[in-house]
Amino acid sequence: MQVDVEHVLTVIEALQPPTVFVDHDNRITISNRPARDMLGGALAGRHYFSVLRQPVILDAIDSVLRGGDSAAAPFITGQDAGETIWQASARALIVAGQRGALVSFEDTTATEEAGQMRRDFVANVSHELRTPLTALIGFIETLGGAARNDPAARDRFLSIMAREANRMNRLVQDLLSLSRVESEERLRPTVRLNPGDLLRSVTVSLGPLLEAQSVTINLEGCADLPDLPGDGDQLCQVFTNLIENAAKYGGFGGTVTITATQIDHEPSMRGPALRIDVRDSGEGIDPIHLPRLTERFYRVDAHRSQDMGGTGLGLAIVKHIINRHRGRLKIESKPGQGSTFSVFLPLG
Ligand SMILES: Nc1ncnc2c1ncn2[C@@H]1O[C@H](COP(=O)(O)OP(=O)(O)O)[C@@H](O)[C@H]1O
Ligand SMILES: [Mg+2]
Repeated sequence: MQVDVEHVLTVIEALQPPTVFVDHDNRITISNRPARDMLGGALAGRHYFSVLRQPVILDAIDSVLRGGDSAAAPFITGQDAGETIWQASARALIVAGQRGALVSFEDTTATEEAGQMRRDFVANVSHELRTPLTALIGFIETLGGAARNDPAARDRFLSIMAREANRMNRLVQDLLSLSRVESEERLRPTVRLNPGDLLRSVTVSLGPLLEAQSVTINLEGCADLPDLPGDGDQLCQVFTNLIENAAKYGGFGGTVTITATQIDHEPSMRGPALRIDVRDSGEGIDPIHLPRLTERFYRVDAHRSQDMGGTGLGLAIVKHIINRHRGRLKIESKPGQGSTFSVFLPLG
């Protein structure tokens, strides 16, 4: 392709992505405003290596100036949390008979972050599965060897194995729930259901757990509530998780109070809403943990959660289900005074 400088200048200035042209003499002769904003001001006439300064991109441009067709390289601007990760593409362009490199930058920060989150998630899941799996493998070996003829040991090991296998099962169930909720998060439920009936049936099915923890449960304001659009199974899961947490972390012999309140106008939902508080009488949560509580696998006390059979995914599932309902989750807690998890659901 053979073009003259004016044409290239007009085209580069019209482009949205940051773009520069490096001539045969290693100088940046053309740049558009996004490139000047990104690279910090006056670029005209400067050597590209004094502007770009990162070895991989310098090599990429150099290879194009020396005869290559194209080359790509990552380029990073900013620092730490404000870092932007660009993908720079250099392509040969003959301008006024001389070979140069047209270099454009694409912002790939979001893609890089999504990739990092996926890698972290896979690492977390593998770690969570490996612990019970290692225990199972160990007990299988022991049962096949040393404990082969010891009925008492065998029974004890089998019951531990059953517990570990159940832990893996719960983890897989929660992972499946999470991926199902995430995949339909954009589809708002349309079926209407009665939240009072739902709360009553959740507390009935949690009976055995509440009894085992000697927890007293109070339902307040749950009679005569209006219907609201919702996915019954998913809302059941929300309140099951919240009440289960309140019973588990609220401590033995505690009280869990569920209060439903109608709100005529909830500003964040631009309309009428139902607020359901799940309050426990436990030791509460230090405020530093609150913003991260709904992250996958985030636990205040990992040992305690695992002892209670937790997967660390309950609140992540809760958050996604509430998002799907266009609702909101608010967590308030003061150490020593228990915690309140409030679910806001739009009534319209
Ligand atoms: N009612 C509560 N009181 C105190 N801590 C809580 C309460 N609910 C949740 N948490 C904390 O939040 C963490 C995450 O909860 P969750 O996602 O349900 O996972 P899990 O219960 O499986 O550990 C728990 O491990 C616990 O540390
Ligand atoms: Mg939980």
